[in-house]
Amino acid sequence: MIAAVLHGIGEPIQIEERTSLHASPGHQVVRLKYAAINHRDLWIQQGKYAGLRFPIVLGSDGMGQVDQRDVLIQPGLDWGTHQTHQERSYRILGLPDDGTFATEVVVPQGNVFSVPGHLSPEEAAALPLAGLTAYRAVMVKAEVSSGEKVLVTGIGGGVATLAMQMALAQGAEVYVTSGSVEKINQAKSMGVAEGFVYKNPEWSDQLKNMTGGIHKIIDGTGGQGFSEAIDCLSPGGIAVNYGGTAGDFTLAPRRLFWNQLTLKGTTMGTERDFADMLSFVHQHRIHPVVAAVFPLDQINEAFNFIRSRSQFGKVVLAIPGL
Ligand SMILES: NC(=O)c1ccc[n+]([C@@H]2O[C@H](COP(=O)([O-])OP(=O)(O)OC[C@H]3O[C@@H](n4cnc5c(N)ncnc54)[C@H](OP(=O)(O)O)[C@@H]3O)[C@@H](O)[C@H]2O)c1
Repeated sequence: MIAAVLHGIGEPIQIEERTSLHASPGHQVVRLKYAAINHRDLWIQQGKYAGLRFPIVLGSDGMGQVDQRDVLIQPGLDWGTHQTHQERSYRILGLPDDGTFATEVVVPQGNVFSVPGHLSPEEAAALPLAGLTAYRAVMVKAEVSSGEKVLVTGIGGGVATLAMQMALAQGAEVYVTSGSVEKINQAKSMGVAEGFVYKNPEWSDQLKNMTGGIHKIIDGTGGQGFSEAIDCLSPGGIAVNYGGTAGDFTLAPRRLFWNQLTLKGTTMGTERDFADMLSFVHQHRIHPVVAAVFPLDQINEAFNFIRSRSQFGKVVLAIPGL
């Protein structure tokens, strides 16, 4: 088999020949056609992730074949029994277990799902981790419903783009932020009401003036931008956070308690969330946005593409072989 291997913090990823994988009982070898990159893979390469081990084959998302059936992979391992939170045993495929940036990966049989019929192979690879995170944030935590005003921050991101698509499918009035006017225009062409450049210090005032206040926030960036977004919530509003790309934030407690706001954190999702997400995506014919497809041997260029924030949606790797 061929694998893209990371040997240490800050190292470039190396394409290497390895011995073929064999499945232990209850597991399955998936022969991969496409994988997708998540920001997690970049954090790991930078050494900014818990539980590092090297060498490691990164990659949480993959689409491929088992017995000639097209499948995609649920990247969460051993969530546990609670719907509210994962157990300590929970892991995400691609660290510490070897992941999908390879021609083969071994996963538990229960993590293998048929590809929804409306998706291309590239879209199927792009869906799992971002789709699961977005679904739990939008549907389970924020409980977005028709007619609500929803802000999705950093819209170029893979999770953010899917969250936007899901909120739109729910009939919400969606607003976005981005560092790029082009990405805002792309989001508007998909049905978003308006977008704001987060580098503009006036952005949150503009959003408040335009909407009179929003009901829900889906945020993966944290930082002061998250605090500014919370300032736009109407009384009783809900802010859901799934990531901290822009770092920590501070918040005036009065804003929170006086307005009866709810802050919720979310990470990945349960097995049930994943199955529900696949049904939702199929029912609403949601196609994950594939920003670019790179061959596996250009994986370092693909990482640089994400690092430079050039993407709108997901970056996919084409795996040689099948
Ligand atoms: N908790 C979980 O289960 C979970 C799951 C997936 C991801 N995450 C985390 O969520 C974050 C996003 O992940 P991803 O894979 O979707 O990343 P991604 O595709 O690399 O997208 C990151 C996006 O963040 C936006 N951004 C960066 N700095 C920003 C700022 N200062 N203010 C507002 N937006 C900013 C940019 O949007 P524009 O390009 O529009 O400017 C960028 O494209 C990462 O930190 C990741 O680790 C967590």
